[in-house]
Amino acid sequence: MKSHPFQLSSMAEYRAACQSADENPASFWAEVADSFQWIQPWESVVESDFEAAHFAWFKGAKLNITINALDRHARIQPQALALAWEPNDPNEQGRRFSYAELLQHVERTAGMLRRLGIKKGDTVGIYLPMVPELVFSVLACARIGAIHSVVFGGFSAQALASRLNDASCRLLITADEALRGAKKIALKNIADEALLASPSVERVLVFARTGAKVSMKPGRDLDWAESWSHANNPALGHAETMDAEDPLFILYTSGSTGKPKGVVHTTAGYMVWTAYTFVNVFQYKPGELHFCTADIGWITGHSYIVYGPLLAGASTLMFEGLPNWPDSNRWWQLIEKYKANIFYTAPTALRSLMADNKEGPMEFAMNSLRVLGSVGEPINAEAWHWFKDKVGKGRCALTDTWWQTETGGIMIAALAGMGSELPTYAGLPLPGIVPVLMDANGNRQPAGEAEGNLCLEKPWPGMARTVYGDHERLRQTYFSIHPGYYFTGDGCLRSKEGMYRITGRVDDVLNVSGHRLGTAELENAINAHSCVSESAVVGYPHSIKGQGICAFVVADFGNRPVFERNKEVLDLVGKIIGPIARPDLLVFVPGLPKTRSGKIMRRILRKIAEEQSDSMGDISTLLEPDLVPILQTAFLNEKKGGD
Ligand code: WT7
Repeated sequence: MKSHPFQLSSMAEYRAACQSADENPASFWAEVADSFQWIQPWESVVESDFEAAHFAWFKGAKLNITINALDRHARIQPQALALAWEPNDPNEQGRRFSYAELLQHVERTAGMLRRLGIKKGDTVGIYLPMVPELVFSVLACARIGAIHSVVFGGFSAQALASRLNDASCRLLITADEALRGAKKIALKNIADEALLASPSVERVLVFARTGAKVSMKPGRDLDWAESWSHANNPALGHAETMDAEDPLFILYTSGSTGKPKGVVHTTAGYMVWTAYTFVNVFQYKPGELHFCTADIGWITGHSYIVYGPLLAGASTLMFEGLPNWPDSNRWWQLIEKYKANIFYTAPTALRSLMADNKEGPMEFAMNSLRVLGSVGEPINAEAWHWFKDKVGKGRCALTDTWWQTETGGIMIAALAGMGSELPTYAGLPLPGIVPVLMDANGNRQPAGEAEGNLCLEKPWPGMARTVYGDHERLRQTYFSIHPGYYFTGDGCLRSKEGMYRITGRVDDVLNVSGHRLGTAELENAINAHSCVSESAVVGYPHSIKGQGICAFVVADFGNRPVFERNKEVLDLVGKIIGPIARPDLLVFVPGLPKTRSGKIMRRILRKIAEEQSDSMGDISTLLEPDLVPILQTAFLNEKKGGD
């Protein structure tokens, strides 16, 4: 049975959809969009101008995404489970919200925001742990037309401040503390530090997660529970009428240059794309429970914990804790406890669980599981098979889903259970998506087997519309490198059968445990140390994280001990960006390889870090070719020491 009119239930239907999305995109997407609830219909389905990087979908339409994610289902299936929450500590009680209850909570949160004077078009920063209040906050913003900007709880005060400032957030929603396994993280303290440098923030709403005593600044800080108790006027929870192209949210992501970009997604297109991809990629069936292990601080959590599943009327599980605490069976226990049907996670976590337990979770039958999904980085064959055979017991469909913060939702994947599954290959493009591979000279590769830089030829509803406050940056980053195409930044292989395999970033972006980090951003943080004169960061193969962070650093610490020197640099990066950005290897070197014109030759550093010095290529153009063997030895020593 189809859960939605737009569900594709066979390869024949998939091929027909691809053909019609290709031949007549406007009527194809209009038909998909018809199954949503609109306040006013659109005037045009799609406007697209690659040169100006201007795109609009369902222009002229009026809607509110939360009516589609909540009210619609609360009317038809009020008692159905919308959101289940599992706390960090297995001994603490979880929380469950039916569609009717989730709607009430979101309405009340919307009322809280309105009482604080937040209105359509305002930006709201959200720096919360994985608690239901995070979902209420996100959806309450959408309900009143405020633009949410969720900042991952692992980012530092400085990183939070720069995001709050960039988007001129008026309100910050945070918590006293976050729980991560046995650790507590003092979120409010970090927020307080950030707020010293975030003048746009007028009010701070503080959710008491642990009840720890935190300082509350009179006139600025408000207790969530207290505000909640005053927000009992149901009239304040109504849904604002939004334009299709009104911004829905900002999410910061790293690029190869400069500071992170505030990627902006708008209302209607994002709604259609996340619902369409959720239903089709995972082949969602009515009544199913979806367990996505991401954090809502990343796009995966936005699209496949919150919006996609709720738009489809599914049950979504959010988990506050870690896969390996109190022990490494936690996820399997949750799958059994909640009878999860779809399990969506990242290769890095699978590799780390696999390293602990090659045989897999044998004591857990996990009979409810039907579909497994992978996201965030290339999945190696070993992890793919372990996932399929040991977690899925060989009876679940596995879909590897390729996409990006900028694409809003899944772009290339196997439709679960439909025969386009191949280890290490993401699979086939969703209807409407036209991947094109470019060679090094920017020439389009002919159809069939090929390798090149992955570009996309056609607009799709979920694509990012702008970079907050800097539209030119969107145009330059994604639409100018290969004119007429969207450039993804990824390298890719295409098989004879037309399946796509993503090989990794071709720009200066690292993917560390599925977290995206820019080398420039990392170098700036390292260079902020007064003893450092310069640095260059490259990735290197890491068995668990996918890529590790290797920093070559030129510095003068006098005769201070090595451990002190290392700690200072690592702590500084942790302070400027966050603990996720701390380099795995610090290699102190006398100089960096440069061309005669003074440009750092990263290619050489990459080869050294990948231990592929044989294919280093020509180094004769270097200013100091003698540096190369010195750097090699320094890297190998450091790596040996680190293991
Ligand atoms: C980059 C985007 C999309 C949600 C999480 C990451 C890499 C993502 C895959 C995959 C190989 C993948 C790409 C991409 N990536 N999914 N299935 N196979 N690589 O979002 O932080 O915006 O990062 O992650 O390199 O460009 P993101």
